Amino acid sequence: MKSDNKKPEKKSTNPKTTLIENENREYAECVVLKPVGYPFEFNLMDDDFEIKNKELFEEYAREQWLGLVVRENSHLFDQKIIPDYGFEIISAKPDNSIISENTKIKLITDELSAKKDSTLIKSNIRLSDIVGQTNAKNKIKVITKYLEDPESFGPWAPKNILFYGLPGTGKTMLVKALANELEVPLYLIKATTLIGDHVGDGASKIHELFKKASENSPSIIFIDEIDAIALHRSFQSLRGDVSEIVNSLLTEMDGISENESVITIGATNNPTSLDYAVRSRFEEEIEFKLPDDAERLEIITNNLKTMPLKYDLDLGKIVKLTKGLSGRDIKEKILKTALHNTIASDSEIITMRNIDYAVNASKIKNSDIKGMFE
Ligand SMILES: Nc1ncnc2c1ncn2[C@@H]1O[C@H](COP(=O)(O)OP(=O)(O)OP(=O)(O)O)[C@@H](O)[C@H]1O
Ligand SMILES: [Mg+2]
Repeated sequence: MKSDNKKPEKKSTNPKTTLIENENREYAECVVLKPVGYPFEFNLMDDDFEIKNKELFEEYAREQWLGLVVRENSHLFDQKIIPDYGFEIISAKPDNSIISENTKIKLITDELSAKKDSTLIKSNIRLSDIVGQTNAKNKIKVITKYLEDPESFGPWAPKNILFYGLPGTGKTMLVKALANELEVPLYLIKATTLIGDHVGDGASKIHELFKKASENSPSIIFIDEIDAIALHRSFQSLRGDVSEIVNSLLTEMDGISENESVITIGATNNPTSLDYAVRSRFEEEIEFKLPDDAERLEIITNNLKTMPLKYDLDLGKIVKLTKGLSGRDIKEKILKTALHNTIASDSEIITMRNIDYAVNASKIKNSDIKGMFE
């Protein structure tokens, strides 16, 4: 045990501690700690650890740090089980007091999980920002009703839903809006981040994700780009660890019992590339379609509201020019490129010339991409 605090009491269990006697300090009532990791890089060890039993940890921590002075914003270090692992003192009541046998020691564990790939997300996107995608929005309505009154659904609860569709059609955006509007935690994980350096990493991250979601249920798990891990069997042999991740995903999905309100949403560009066993566990597959004329007009109008420059545009013409493009393409490839082209040409107003420039530039890019696979 060591600390960057002064150590005032004889009672300390650490022989290295410099004892300062006769200091007139109060005993700490409660100390809140945040795990912050090692003061140096230590490759063999993961920066994260899991505390399974908070009461036991409290007892262990109290015993280890007995007699130490706790000052807010300073650190305590573990010297026994995970040597040198640091904890920041977030609050000490009263500040500058001494840890006694009666001090309550609390850990902020959410901060721990925030470092991981599976993150609790919050955003400013609203469901009304999403143009079109009525089927998906209807399902969201059902999910919302279910979460308001889970008992009434019994075995008919929504459980696993797959969003699929072309890139940039609003899958991720919709889930972010859901996180914003619902009052339940939503855990987002990008499947590509599950393929770790070590075999077993991905499987244990999935386990952790489902565990956290079920501890905090009702909750939603969103596995974005799920095809990266739940690849069709015929591709799995290409990556040994992938089949392990698939199995872990299946185990966890099956492990969520009927009376637990945990909903899993997966998103993919191509459901046919999914492992069949994984795919069959989704009760409903909802397609995200490219925007039609009216929807493109709405996407264009909404995006123009945040334009930093004035514009003089024929919106009907842009709707025609952007046929076949996704919401993302309209925003990123057309409107953003047109804006940048306007700025680059020292103009103050975006005109159809800038839009034409962007449309041509995006055509070149698209045909390049097509050529790559021919
Ligand atoms: N239906 C939509 N309504 C409004 N904006 C949209 C819509 N679809 C896409 N966009 C715009 O495109 C951006 C990207 O969309 P999003 O990330 O949700 O696509 P995605 O379907 O998840 O794509 P990918 O399959 O590549 O992950 C959004 O942030 C938004 O600006
Ligand atoms: Mg996405």
